[in-house]
Amino acid sequence: MGFYSQVILPRALDWMMSDPVLTQYRQEVLSEVSGEVLEIGFGTGLNLPHYPESLQKLIAIDANPGMNALARKRIQSSGIIVANRVLNGENLPMDDNSFDSVVSTWTLCSIAKVEQALRCWKFIGCSNLGESSFSSNMD
Ligand SMILES: C[S@@+](CC[C@H](N)C(=O)[O-])C[C@H]1O[C@@H](n2cnc3c(N)ncnc32)[C@H](O)[C@@H]1O
Repeated sequence: MGFYSQVILPRALDWMMSDPVLTQYRQEVLSEVSGEVLEIGFGTGLNLPHYPESLQKLIAIDANPGMNALARKRIQSSGIIVANRVLNGENLPMDDNSFDSVVSTWTLCSIAKVEQALRCWKFIGCSNLGESSFSSNMD
């Protein structure tokens, strides 16, 4: 990955995705998750303030290591236990049924093999696939 992808793009996305218009959607989507959660396309961690107290642990993955670098500060001030990893959401190494919920906001549009990714996410944590930007294994 080059300078643009790892340095410029994360800063530009952080600015764009901080738009207050998106906050209400983050709150709506994240209020329903609990337990051990996998977030795919974690970006710069803008969802962190909107997770409910029922969240126990967050595994946050993103394909771009430049995003993780920017997310670090937000993780530290969130008080949430976050395992932050650089992985491609199209093909994840986690076991089936490893998570209570799988969250992804504004990421599917940048995933090339969407069907493959959704199949994978369903196996590792989602019995229900709801909105394209969110899925959860809520009984
Ligand atoms: C538009 S940003 C959204 C970031 C964050 N979800 C939010 O709501 O602010 C899309 C994110 O998905 C990540 N991404 C794109 N393709 C990916 C893939 N195949 N696997 C994992 N993450 C990916 C990008 O690096 C970027 O951080």
